[in-house]
Amino acid sequence: MTDQPRFLLVDPAHFEVSYRINPWMEPGAWAADADNNRRAARRSFGALADALRGAGAVLEIVPGTPGLPDMVFPANAGVVLDGRVIVARFAHPERADEEARFLDAFAALQERGLVREVATMPSGALHEGAGDAIWDANRGFFWAGHGQRSNLAGAEAVGRFFGRELRTLRLVSPSFYHLDTCFCPLSNGHVLYYPDAFDAEGLDTIRRHVAPEHRIEATREDAEALCVNAVNVGRTVVMARAPEPLRRRLSGAGYEVREVDLAPFILSGGAAYCMTLRLDRAVATEGAARD
Ligand code: ARG
Repeated sequence: MTDQPRFLLVDPAHFEVSYRINPWMEPGAWAADADNNRRAARRSFGALADALRGAGAVLEIVPGTPGLPDMVFPANAGVVLDGRVIVARFAHPERADEEARFLDAFAALQERGLVREVATMPSGALHEGAGDAIWDANRGFFWAGHGQRSNLAGAEAVGRFFGRELRTLRLVSPSFYHLDTCFCPLSNGHVLYYPDAFDAEGLDTIRRHVAPEHRIEATREDAEALCVNAVNVGRTVVMARAPEPLRRRLSGAGYEVREVDLAPFILSGGAAYCMTLRLDRAVATEGAARD
């Protein structure tokens, strides 16, 4: 095994925008230019894969399933820490069948020794995986979004399964429906976040834990470009095409921004982070060593 960062990605062959479960999704606009959109999606996916590999990552790319176009967003497949996985329970019927497909994918990863335990959500819990439970390696807890797709029972199930603390954040905007669309902890302790996606209590929680010099507040323009949905590997931050001021602020904070044109996936309300699932996150204590 290597100690390179490892990500799960899903091949985009079956990606399309054929239903609407968030305000970004326009099935009509997709269908009007479906062939071009499909080709563009393939190119964008390749560019994202190149950017991640360029940042030193190893990719596990698994096939999607016809009729489950949003499988291309595996951040929603489950939450992974220390080789243990708790698989998502989706809020919308359109995505519900992904749970079984991702269970199969995790079982295959388990056979290869890339994860060691796979569990499912208790009944009553709704949870859309790493899209709504983001491990903060610097602070040693999960930031957990709820109120749009995931419910509090789902967030609490994640905390219990891993035996880790949570800081829950209620999401108040239908456009920023997963925590990863509006909140992104970075390797040096910074947090890139979009304030308007949270209620007053959530903002207070963020500001209590993140010192002023570590806060990078995204503008509406940054958030609407889905740039907060970024993948951070070391000092590299891979994101959708970014407004210049955001790029400047991130490089001023010590990060190297790698932009990828993700327009076809933005038509579905997703971008870089949610097209990936980090498989090798480990709590940085000796008790957390893998088997
Ligand atoms: N169309 C997908 C949905 O609405 C996009 C998911 C993006 N995932 C994310 N973690 N932000 O579910």
